[in-house]
Amino acid sequence: MTVTEKDKLSEVISKCKPERGNLIPLLQEIQAELGYLPQEAMQEVASFLDIPKVEVYGVVTFYNQFRLAPLGKHHVRVCMGTACHLRGGKLILEALERELSIKVGQTAPDRSFSLERVACVGCCMLAPVVLIGEEIHPKMTPFKMEEDLIPYRQEIDELPENSN
Ligand code: FES
Repeated sequence: MTVTEKDKLSEVISKCKPERGNLIPLLQEIQAELGYLPQEAMQEVASFLDIPKVEVYGVVTFYNQFRLAPLGKHHVRVCMGTACHLRGGKLILEALERELSIKVGQTAPDRSFSLERVACVGCCMLAPVVLIGEEIHPKMTPFKMEEDLIPYRQEIDELPENSN
């Protein structure tokens, strides 16, 4: 965790009462601040609420809303609702895993991309759908997906820390 993340974590915890029933709201609040739940944060929560870390970890892994890794600069969400699933959502997801060299639920080591599967995003007429950030990519095919990733990759390549 960075120093800033540690500060934010302390601030969130300081506003909470150390009661077991606060576990989920506390985790939600921490994730809202940090964007994910680092191991260290889960340890802190366990100590603060005086419960075993395994209990905290159990809750975090049980609910889809919690994330163990930070999001990438570009967060890619593949809709796997019924319409998208029937129109090839799984193929799109597999293509993205290959293209980005990460599995669903993971973030690339350089934090450029993260990949997630989500339930219906509400535009079934456009199935199969992928969201990159808040941008909708409709009627996806593995080939179209590859093409649509190009500008996002270029943006990453142009970031100052990636220039030599
Ligand atoms: S199922 Fe994908 S947008 Fe509804």
